[in-house]
Amino acid sequence: MPEDMVLCEMTEPHINKAELVARLRPWGQEHLLRFWDGLSAGERMRLAGQIQAVDWAQMDRWIRRYVLQKPEVSLPPDLEPAPYYPLEPEDGRQRELYARARKHGAALLSAGRVAGFTVAGGQGTRLGFDAPKGTFRIAPVTGKSLFQLFAEGILRAREKYGAPIPWYVMTSPINDAATRAFFQAAGYFGLPETDVRFFPQGTLPAVGFDGKLLLARRDSMALSPNGHGGSLAALRDSGALEEMRARGVDHISYWQVDNPLVRTFDPLFLGLHDLLGSDMSSRALIKTGPFEKLGNFCVSSGTLQIIEYSDMPKDLATAVGPDGRLRFRAGSPAIHILRRSFVEHMTEGEVRLPLHRAEKKVSCVDADGNTVQPVAPNAVKLEMFIFDALPEARAPIVLEMARGEQFGPVKNPDGVDSVVSCRALMVERAARWLEAAGIQVPRESDGRPACLVELSPRRYLDPEDVKANAARITPPRPGEAKAYE
Ligand code: UTP
Repeated sequence: MPEDMVLCEMTEPHINKAELVARLRPWGQEHLLRFWDGLSAGERMRLAGQIQAVDWAQMDRWIRRYVLQKPEVSLPPDLEPAPYYPLEPEDGRQRELYARARKHGAALLSAGRVAGFTVAGGQGTRLGFDAPKGTFRIAPVTGKSLFQLFAEGILRAREKYGAPIPWYVMTSPINDAATRAFFQAAGYFGLPETDVRFFPQGTLPAVGFDGKLLLARRDSMALSPNGHGGSLAALRDSGALEEMRARGVDHISYWQVDNPLVRTFDPLFLGLHDLLGSDMSSRALIKTGPFEKLGNFCVSSGTLQIIEYSDMPKDLATAVGPDGRLRFRAGSPAIHILRRSFVEHMTEGEVRLPLHRAEKKVSCVDADGNTVQPVAPNAVKLEMFIFDALPEARAPIVLEMARGEQFGPVKNPDGVDSVVSCRALMVERAARWLEAAGIQVPRESDGRPACLVELSPRRYLDPEDVKANAARITPPRPGEAKAYE
């Protein structure tokens, strides 16, 4: 049984209570039937279906391993910093490689060999926004949503490379309908409907710290999305992989829904990935300090892997090389390219990605049937992470990217990695791109832009697009909020 498939496809459930009790008792989970006698026929159907879809022996193993104890993190003893390709080529050979890669990446795009893939199945609990995170209105002047910004960027990329670029969006059973409705209401932001595909990821039950599964309602278990690593199986199970193969898509550009600055189709990144035969490529940010909350690119016995910041021993995190720089300085902003054939290989049988334990606040019903909104974490969610596929990838490469150019995650309402910091980064990047095209942007004495500027990705995908349009751009005035469409 694959780790992501504890909940299998539901078959017509038998709704015999005694049978359900017999199924749950060996695992001490009979409390899930606590309200059974008061449920309607339809409600019984739902709960019975959920219970019958769980592989209880597997679930019990996971509860013992990940819930009743905090799994020990065992790091390999020979952990070394992963090599990465620098932002700018460092010698003639690299310069030649980068130039070739840029051309090759653009050719891949023009030949329709690349698809976009956004993982948008998360619950965005830190943001505290009820609707799907992709519908959050992030743009600093126009208030365009995250989804709209990506859609506009894809439209521009289609125009620029003269090819259809299909877009796959992974949702979850919780936000799938709302996500589809949002796109439909917006006319898919001008993209052909047939080139935007949605599919929900799998779920896993949330488990209380005592090892008991939680009920979200009297007739339903509390089920949570199984992590962005669930995207591998979801790509297969939804038929998306097959569709990509039929369309001639060989490479999947992967990004997270909460990073509106991401360069969705970067010819250099794509070109290096393909020319160097990489199965799974990653962008890297040079960390601002040893404890920045980014996964660390490491190698052990020649195998690339990401070690979460929380698992990184302090002595390694703070280690400094002879050049005075952090040894482990390459952090992961969760931007990847996956070779389609690699995803096919990874999903041939069981998807073997490890589970991670996350302590979360999960709303549930108590023994009396009252809904409880916990104020502190009350449950463990089990999640798979996409980066755990890296050790399986052939010739994986890591490419540095410039801070502020491609990474402004929207995790929290304010503070670090927030709506506020992301908008500031968007404005700063737009100002930089305008200035690089010779357009003057008023600045405060501390260097911050003295205006709000926003560049529509529909026209301005990169600094070159701004340069090409410089003649039609009027410079922003101090204090002005200006969107360039
Ligand atoms: P996060 O790890 O930041 O989780 O997801 P989140 O659910 O969005 O936010 P919090 O932790 O509840 O505040 C990083 C990216 O992975 C996607 C998210 O949608 C986001 O794009 N993701 C996460 C999934 O697609 N599925 C998941 O099960 C989890």
